[in-house]
This record gives sequence, structure tokens and C-alpha cells, in this order.
Amino acid sequence: MISLVVALARNNVIGKEGSMPWYYPEDLKYFKKLTMGHKILMGRKTFESIIRRNNKILPGRKHYVLTRDLNFSFPEVEVLHNLDLFLKNIGDEEIFIIGGAEIYKAALTYADRLYITHINKEYEGDVYFPELDLNNFHLISEQTVNELAFCVYERIKEC
Ligand SMILES: NC(=O)c1ccc[n+]([C@@H]2O[C@H](COP(=O)([O-])OP(=O)(O)OC[C@H]3O[C@@H](n4cnc5c(N)ncnc54)[C@H](OP(=O)(O)O)[C@@H]3O)[C@@H](O)[C@H]2O)c1
Repeated sequence: MISLVVALARNNVIGKEGSMPWYYPEDLKYFKKLTMGHKILMGRKTFESIIRRNNKILPGRKHYVLTRDLNFSFPEVEVLHNLDLFLKNIGDEEIFIIGGAEIYKAALTYADRLYITHINKEYEGDVYFPELDLNNFHLISEQTVNELAFCVYERIKEC
């Protein structure tokens, strides 16, 4: 099971200058609860933004980092160079794709489930979520807290 997690501004911005252009503690708590104990997969730039912010990997989660750099390594991190090969061999266990834009774009067609925090506000930024056709998904839950809507979508299975 492949799940994608993203916080998305109304104008599709997801990042600015290597970081996120907002701070929503409720969303960070949601992300932590969702991913705790699971595998998380991210691009090298998102991984570096996590390390810049926390000085360490996120506790309690197995990190997979995608890079073309064959010399890249980091303690306790699994380094990947081929996303398609990895995602095609995922079993039933839920893995969370946590960004950024390049990885979302490459992984979107594989995603069974989307956890999207829709932020009801526009932000300036330099990284955008790729084009998304929600017609292939149905909304299975939605919870609104102030300007955030925590939505879960599941891919509509073809008969
Ligand atoms: N709002 C949110 O929920 C959210 C979530 C995550 C991230 N973000 C934001 O998104 C931004 C980062 O996104 P980004 O798109 O710039 O970078 P990214 O997707 O995090 O990482 C891009 C890097 O991944 C590697 N990569 C990409 N495709 C690959 C492939 N096919 N094979 C092997 N390696 C591949 C490359 O690493 P190498 O250059 O090392 O080869 C590439 O430079 C930041 O601003 C971050 O804060 C936002």
C-alpha cells in the first residue's frame, strides 16, 4: 500500500527556499501520528530540509531517501536510486511518500491513498504539487481545523 502525504496551499505551493512556507503545529502532529512506526520515502532535498530543521532523522520511522548520487549515505537511512523498482515491489505494508515535488510527481501514479492537508490560504513559494486529477480518487474522510482540512482520498479501483 502506497500512501502519499502532503500539505498543500490553495495555490498548490508546497515549499519555499528548501523549506515549508508555514508553520502549523496541528499538521505536524497529524503527520507524526500518521507516519509513526512506518516506512517513509522522500527525495534527497526533503531529507536535507528535515536534517536542517531537526539535526537528526525523524524518530520511530524507517527512512528511505531517493538520490542519483551513488556516494550519498547517512546513518540509519536506506538510500534508493530507482523509485519505480522500489515501488513495484512494495507489499501490503503501508509506506508513506512524504515529498517533495519531484518525488510526488514520480510516485503519484503508484499512490493508493492520498493524505492531503488542504490549507485554505495562498502562500508564496517556489515548489508546487504536480497536477492532480482527483477524479481517480474518492474522498473517504475529511476533518477541518481552522484553515486546515485533513482529507484522505483512496484510489478508485478499476473493475
Ligand atoms: N508541503 C509539504 O507537505 C512538503 C513535503 C515535502 C517537501 N516539501 C518541500 O518541497 C521542497 C523540496 O522538493 P523538491 O521537489 O525540490 O525536492 P525533493 O523531491 O525532495 O528531492 C529532489 C531530489 O530527489 C532525487 N531524485 C528525484 N527524482 C529521482 C529519481 N528518479 N531517481 C533518483 N533520485 C531522484 C534527486 O536527488 P539528487 O539531487 O541527490 O540526485 C533530486 O534532486 C522543499 O521546499 C520542501 O520543504 C513540502
